[in-house]
Amino acid sequence: MVAKTIVVANWKMNPGSFREAKKLFDAEKKAAEKARGVSVIVAPPAIFLRELSQSYRGSKVAFAVQNAHFGAGGAYTGEISLAQTKDARARYVIVGHAERRAEGETDDDTRKKVAAALALKMTPILCVGESSRTGGGEQFNVVREQLRVGLADVAASALGRVLIVYEPLWTIGAKTTMNPREMHQMAIFMRKCVVDSHGEGGRSLKILYGGSVDEKNAGAMLRDGDVRGFLVGRASVNALEFGKLLEAIERAQ
Ligand code: PGA
Repeated sequence: MVAKTIVVANWKMNPGSFREAKKLFDAEKKAAEKARGVSVIVAPPAIFLRELSQSYRGSKVAFAVQNAHFGAGGAYTGEISLAQTKDARARYVIVGHAERRAEGETDDDTRKKVAAALALKMTPILCVGESSRTGGGEQFNVVREQLRVGLADVAASALGRVLIVYEPLWTIGAKTTMNPREMHQMAIFMRKCVVDSHGEGGRSLKILYGGSVDEKNAGAMLRDGDVRGFLVGRASVNALEFGKLLEAIERAQ
């Protein structure tokens, strides 16, 4: 069986009301049901999670939370625990997104979140990527270190339960996306890093790409980028664009 292409719809801090969120979700659910060979994971703002997941009884869409705290409970004003998000039916958690790293999330935080998610039988979606490119190849050191720390508490036998996203900050919300050949090169490098740290299982690391993915560039990235899917921001909060993106992915498979 050919593995399905994974599409994570990262809605970020959108839309502005539950009514709009429900409308967007219903449209995306329909698009997901139509698209063959695509597995859709919707990451709404956490406040919409429980009600959206309760309204949905199908199997084509899974839910993710965009961030959660690794602790089980306690004095963490404003935080939500992973267990609470699991209780609201999130099966996945995005960890270390560039926008959260910019707000202070450290590599060590990502390590704790990845381990806590696995302990709860949730799937961590660990994001890595450099914030800028200087031309000196520094991105490889950045990514190696983010993978080293983020996966430090993951047993080799649990690697298959982790998704990794390569999402360089300079391609997020940008006009252009990454060249698929460069992505391919980065994917080879990332697998090598994880083979070095975790053994042969690193070869089958599930790598997604994120950063300005849309219906125009997704096909080429899927064919030549050595990726299993995408983390999608802007194109995931527009139902029409999201539908077209899934169609483009279906054609490219
Ligand atoms: P973008 O965002 O698709 O709008 O570039 C991607 C992301 O940050 O998840």
